[in-house]
Amino acid sequence: MQLFLDTADIKQVRDAVKLGVISGVTTNPSLVSKAGWSGDYKSAVQEICSLVKGPVSVEVLSAEAGGMIEEARSIATWSPYVNIKIPVCAAGLEATAVLSKEKIKVNLTLCFTPNQALLGALAGASYVSAFVGRLDDAGQDGMEVVAQIADCFERYKLPTQVIAASIRHPMHCVTAVQAGAHIATVPHSVLMQMINHPLTTVGIARFLEDAQKTKGKG
Ligand code: E4P
Repeated sequence: MQLFLDTADIKQVRDAVKLGVISGVTTNPSLVSKAGWSGDYKSAVQEICSLVKGPVSVEVLSAEAGGMIEEARSIATWSPYVNIKIPVCAAGLEATAVLSKEKIKVNLTLCFTPNQALLGALAGASYVSAFVGRLDDAGQDGMEVVAQIADCFERYKLPTQVIAASIRHPMHCVTAVQAGAHIATVPHSVLMQMINHPLTTVGIARFLEDAQKTKGKG
């Protein structure tokens, strides 16, 4: 099981990398807009790559297969760590099939069904991202979809990795492990929540208090 950070905020990447628990980063156009990247998209991606030294997903914006392929080929030259995020649709599958043959790694995104994930794997995607939180929001069990995808890939020994995406809280990470996801991509806020427990906080304070009491006694 690996953790990726789901952010386009370079400061958040810098902070999380220091913890030694992050293997990659996923971005999307909404996260890029939130992070306020202006103009130099390429430099921002390169900085994230140099910090994380692992897979960094960057999404294409074209709607047609030809445009996706062209964009992907260009983005792939930015860093050896860059993966191309492509939405699952007919054009996206066509682009994935071409790019995977060129050894350009694709993260097929916006997957909401096991069928979409299977098609992505057959087209040669390196990763499929199943959006757990958005499925939960729609009244469906998002992690059940992750479990079905992981089971399918395991059963047929498909090399594509399952990313549990759209993670909203720490319990999503626990259930992502149980569902057999290879990776969970977590927002920085969820990563921080995963570290903390009130009993740990109280325990640290009490140890420090007791250490003060013994000071000067030996
Ligand atoms: C990651 O790859 C996705 O883009 C991201 O997890 C989506 O999360 P959201 O549903 O909270 O926007």
